[in-house]
Amino acid sequence: MPVTIVVGLQWGDEGKGKMVDHLAGKAAAVARFSGGANAGHTVEAEGRKFALHLLPSGLVRPDVTALIGASCVMDPVTILEEIRTIEEAGIAVGKRLLVSGKVNLTHPGYRLLENRSESSLAHGRIGTTGRGIGPTYERKYRRNGIRLEDTADPALFAELVDFHTEDIIRELNLSPEDSLKLREDTGGFIAAAQEVKVYAGDVSLALEGLLQSEERVIAEGAQGSLLDPDHGSYPFVTCGQCVSGAACTSLGFGPTSVDQVTGILKAYSTRVGAGPFPTEQDNATGERIRTAGNEFGTTTGRPRRCGWLDGVLAAYAARLNGCTSITLTLLDVLSGFDELKICTSYEGGHFSPGRFMGDMVPVYETLPGWRDDIRGERSWSSLPRGARDYVHAVERIVRVPVTAISTGPGREDVIWR
Ligand code: GDP
Ligand code: IMO
Ligand code: MG
Repeated sequence: MPVTIVVGLQWGDEGKGKMVDHLAGKAAAVARFSGGANAGHTVEAEGRKFALHLLPSGLVRPDVTALIGASCVMDPVTILEEIRTIEEAGIAVGKRLLVSGKVNLTHPGYRLLENRSESSLAHGRIGTTGRGIGPTYERKYRRNGIRLEDTADPALFAELVDFHTEDIIRELNLSPEDSLKLREDTGGFIAAAQEVKVYAGDVSLALEGLLQSEERVIAEGAQGSLLDPDHGSYPFVTCGQCVSGAACTSLGFGPTSVDQVTGILKAYSTRVGAGPFPTEQDNATGERIRTAGNEFGTTTGRPRRCGWLDGVLAAYAARLNGCTSITLTLLDVLSGFDELKICTSYEGGHFSPGRFMGDMVPVYETLPGWRDDIRGERSWSSLPRGARDYVHAVERIVRVPVTAISTGPGREDVIWR
């Protein structure tokens, strides 16, 4: 049973890319199963730094096969840029990349639709990444999407795309200049989609082959469980499913092939975009975490909102995902604090992960901090007492073993216990 699913347990940016790249050292393939280029997964290895958006993080290792599942959405223009960037860094992509022909494509007009919809929501702006993710999933579920496999017939594909272009021009009542610009962008989109077509194929079948040969496959999630459209802080969520169950539906394999679900948990909390964040520290503490953790969005550069670890939400996310283990990341960022806090319950026992999450008032447990800088530390026994106690507290509160601790952005900055 050789699949390990890696998921984020918070609001994204937990260090999934770093850990997937680390784990890929012992895997044959990395398969990305959700979201699109809204994600930003950072990998630092061999003195270089990569920001991956839709490409699976395993691609940075030259011998790893990279798959992209059916539930992902793709902007063909941006993925080509991503492929170019990685190839310019001397990493050949070639036949190592296989994209499901079933992925839905992000038409350039979808970004315009997203702009419009952000300013007309009942609950105010979500603060999306502006990558056209929402409209791509909306079209998919309206059964009016454009899929990568549609490129097989170039004339029909162009017709389908033009239908969408004219539909968007009407819906947004675009000026003649803006209409012309969109039609031009659409030409680039069609050309890029035809270029990306070489990577299209049957991901489920490829996975079956890998699994039969007993090779380990890492299923790489995107975003985080609290951004999941069903289980997260709805309506302030993304559109792709973020929890472990989505790996099976997207990649086309059954749950019987999974033996490990690793939840990536940041030692504190961050959130980018709008929405409730009970343990947010919109004060000097939050600022200190932001500076120490360099908490600025990988995709949009926005400063991330920072706060204490929410143990209740982490336990909730671990349950949703069926985590067999947790990797605690960015622990080094908490070095030097006199004391640290973890939310262990809410006032009045009020727990409501959806629309009313903003009403939850956290109750904290306070732990002593540690002085020494632990960045890059690779052995458990060398960690200061305070850091080890913090890890023990996380295990007690979340009720899942912390089997690995990340102490820096580098590929090898990991402590295994
Ligand atoms: P992802 O979206 O979950 O892949 O996470 P991001 O890459 O968006 O954000 C995590 C950031 O933290 C990146 O800049 C990583 O290079 C960095 N990072 C990952 N793990 C660690 C760690 O243990 N310590 C420190 N200091 N940085 C880390
Ligand atoms: P990774 O994979 C953090 C957030 C956006 C916004 C909401 C909806 O790097 O962890 P969208 O563009 O998806 O419609 O935006 O979701 N968001 C993320 N936040 N990390 C991500 O991905 C995110 N992907 C989307 O900021 O609040
Ligand atoms: Mg990220």
